[in-house]
Amino acid sequence: MKRSLTFVLVICSALIVRAQVNDWENPAVLGINKLPYHATLQLPSKEKECKEIVSLDGQWLFHWSKDPESRPADFYREDYDVSSWGKIDVPGNWQTQGYGTPIYININYPFQRNRPSVTSEPPKDWTAYENRNPVGQYVTFVDVTKDMLSKNLILHFGGVHSAMYLWINGKKVGYSQNSMSPAEFDVTKYLREGKNKLAVEVYRWSDGSYLEDQDMWRLSGIFRSVQLWVRPLVHICDYQVTATPNADYTEFTVDAKISICNTGKKKAKDLLVQLQMATPELYGVSVNPNHWNVTNHRIPKLSAGDTITVDLSFHYASRPRLWSAEKPWLYPFTLELCGMKDSKNNEKFEYHFGVKKVEVAGEVFKINGKNVKLRGVNRHDHHPKTGRYVDDATYEQDIRLMKQANINFLRTSHYPDREYLYELCDKWGIYVMDEANHETHGYGYANRVMGEDLTFQKAHVDRAESLVKRDFNHPSIILWSLGNEGGVGPNIEAMYNKVRELDTTRPPFYDSDRRYSCIWDDSYLYPDDLRREAQKVSDKPFMMREYSHAMGNSCGNLQEYWDVIYADSSIVGAAIWDWVDQGLQRDGYFAYGGDFGDKPNDGEFCINGLIAPDRKPHPHYYEVQYVYQPLRFVRKDNGRIDIINRDCFTDPHEYDITYDTLRYDGEVLLNVAAHLKEDKPWARKGFVVAHEQFVLKAYDFAVNHGDRHSAIRSQSSLLAEEPVPVIHEPVPMIHIDGNKLTSWIVDGKEMLEAPLEPYFWKPENDNQHAAHFAERVAMWKEVKDVKVKYTVINDRSIRVDVDYQPTATDRPVMPKFGMRMRLPKEFTQIKYYGRGPWENYPDRKRSAFLDVYEMPLSEYETEYIHPQDNGNRCDIRWFEIASAQQKLHIEGLQPLCIRAWDYGEEDLVGAKHPNEIHRGRFVNLNIDLNIHGVGGADTWGKRTLPQYTIDGNQPHHYSFFLSF
Ligand code: GAL
Ligand code: MG
Repeated sequence: MKRSLTFVLVICSALIVRAQVNDWENPAVLGINKLPYHATLQLPSKEKECKEIVSLDGQWLFHWSKDPESRPADFYREDYDVSSWGKIDVPGNWQTQGYGTPIYININYPFQRNRPSVTSEPPKDWTAYENRNPVGQYVTFVDVTKDMLSKNLILHFGGVHSAMYLWINGKKVGYSQNSMSPAEFDVTKYLREGKNKLAVEVYRWSDGSYLEDQDMWRLSGIFRSVQLWVRPLVHICDYQVTATPNADYTEFTVDAKISICNTGKKKAKDLLVQLQMATPELYGVSVNPNHWNVTNHRIPKLSAGDTITVDLSFHYASRPRLWSAEKPWLYPFTLELCGMKDSKNNEKFEYHFGVKKVEVAGEVFKINGKNVKLRGVNRHDHHPKTGRYVDDATYEQDIRLMKQANINFLRTSHYPDREYLYELCDKWGIYVMDEANHETHGYGYANRVMGEDLTFQKAHVDRAESLVKRDFNHPSIILWSLGNEGGVGPNIEAMYNKVRELDTTRPPFYDSDRRYSCIWDDSYLYPDDLRREAQKVSDKPFMMREYSHAMGNSCGNLQEYWDVIYADSSIVGAAIWDWVDQGLQRDGYFAYGGDFGDKPNDGEFCINGLIAPDRKPHPHYYEVQYVYQPLRFVRKDNGRIDIINRDCFTDPHEYDITYDTLRYDGEVLLNVAAHLKEDKPWARKGFVVAHEQFVLKAYDFAVNHGDRHSAIRSQSSLLAEEPVPVIHEPVPMIHIDGNKLTSWIVDGKEMLEAPLEPYFWKPENDNQHAAHFAERVAMWKEVKDVKVKYTVINDRSIRVDVDYQPTATDRPVMPKFGMRMRLPKEFTQIKYYGRGPWENYPDRKRSAFLDVYEMPLSEYETEYIHPQDNGNRCDIRWFEIASAQQKLHIEGLQPLCIRAWDYGEEDLVGAKHPNEIHRGRFVNLNIDLNIHGVGGADTWGKRTLPQYTIDGNQPHHYSFFLSF
């Protein structure tokens, strides 16, 4: 008796719990009334021409509530008054439009982790404590005609974060989660002639959020387009087109699988499915524009409610124009459904295919039979104003900048992007790793919790399926990624199997459970470790899906990585983390974690891009452009220049090669460049895709310091001798005090806002901060064991000799070895002969060629989103900085490193954004022999490679002249 009572109680409480479970906290419910996922039917750029699509984008009415309890639950009703509601842009995120708080967090969940609940109580200071699970309610009105009602009406949401309900005219239509993939509902029976009320309720978090723990701004809302598809009752509901070359690439076959469904109430008869393929096009130019191949299939009947899948195949007995990132040949096609007797079911889509083959052959990864190297980058879909919604023009700008930087591989970290991005990659040529919207990092890297929790298996598979189904027809995709930093176990296996089942032409990739990846991933290794680790793995190709963490002033030693990658055919390549700084535009600065009072947050850790949020390239962008260039120029002893071609499908003769000789002060430089011979969609004819600089005759530092110094020239032999105590003529215009030059009066004006003195400190950059640089090298805030010899040549000219003789053997590396001075703030014009024009450091200077550059001080500085050390130029022969009246000329007796800022080192301390830096009191000038490299592995502890550091236990010496 007792037993059965307990049993009854258990059942009752189970029922009660059941009744209370929200769809958005129930991993068994991924959607209600959602239509199956399918391929993008029409090329995104041609959607405007597609008669079936009515865009519902625009301003919608909006209401925000901090939690589900406080939302007006009946807002969807037809009689609910929404006249007082605010407006919101669709597509868009609500946090970027003044509703609620954007949260930037990396690993942890922004809500209390307690799956599947997202509303458990978090610590009191978290944003999610008060705003337990904000709800955004949207209303818009849609006009529907009688004619439209005779068709099949489908509502398409491109992306809604994180979960949504839909009502039409007060009736509930359905529910969806899986935020980065489209959700579609058949709304035919809910719509009526005239005005219709569309109501959407969006939850910031759902059980789906447990799979959406990507390192990014956590933003919500209807952030991709909404469309009403007005479709024939009988229509194409899905299709996959594959174009495969034969073994020796002499012929190829196009296979199409096309699904037709009859959503009407009557049987359909005499249908024809027809595929028309044009001859290939490269950048919109066809080989033979009038030639089309046609293949079709007749469907005698299709019953009401049925779906049929037909296979069409076409064999080309001719050599294919293969698709590759280098030569993105595309075959445009149209897919038509025609009613033979009745034209109301006619429909036509335009798309394209590319002929290519992706293979994993042992430990070698091949595209079209070639050991292609993936010169990659990771990219988040981010816009500084619109958050997760990125418009077409920005997509074009991104892909153009990538192509110009010789990037040929893009990982859509960590979810599928908007469809148009893939079309651009198809057309302009970028290999894509398309990634499923799956990360469970909040349970730990490679966690078993989510990998093994079978209640979440369906949700995992849903993300793999939606990925492959939507993007199948993009030739640019070469790898499907199961996600990032997720679980280990059966849920991953199930994703893997799903991808395999849906596509046999492109293999799955995964970082956290290597059993389910065709490529072995290990990320953020030092170059030497990459070499070693890749050698150990012999059953799979090797890649670093992420490397060279581009946070702030970074990306050192990039060439070292690529020397390793090019030397080992089993290394597929590597992708930089990441493309664009995820800063959000605020008044006068770009915001990062914490700037909105968001808690918990990971501060500036989202600012890791090669380009700024507004798409302005950072200096390290140019280093990538150089290291990734397809051609390498090598100058032989006999003066001959050899070209090493890193590309597989392009001949170096396809470029115009130019040679330019530059002569400055006796130094002779040869610049070699390969230019585009014709316009491409991403660059004009003449654009430099690869270049190199050779020094034919080196600069002679000993004799080159001009007439001004003729008096001293004969004394340069003194250099080799022991530095002697300061000797200087008693020129009243110049005051020297020990190691310091304390005053220099020129034209009656003091030129020194602060003395010229030895100074070995430099502020950290982000990489160094994480590697505890400041603590390790703190002793260098004071100079030691250094003597400066000032030789006054005349009252406008001084020679400076700096000598460091260590008296200890256990000193850390030096931040820099050199001097610092401060000039009056009017000195804002710079001209120099050295590496440039952009900022460069010892481990990141290959892209910065020697030349004479001129720029204002504001351009000499680099304004990082998160202020840090910046602005260095290496290998400077001479440097001038001028006000309207005076000019300071600096000349080394060896190459110099110089940084110039309109603020001091102390002003960087505590400045969170560039607009907080106290500027304009003076000009800070660091004149150095050498500076610590920026580092190039990660921003959580790895250090600058030893060859780019300065040994504090070795003597150092350098000399330069100053003259006004
Ligand atoms: C990676 C991760 C990225 C990002 C990066 C650090 O391990 O996959 O999403 O968090 O670290 O910026
Ligand atoms: Mg992560």
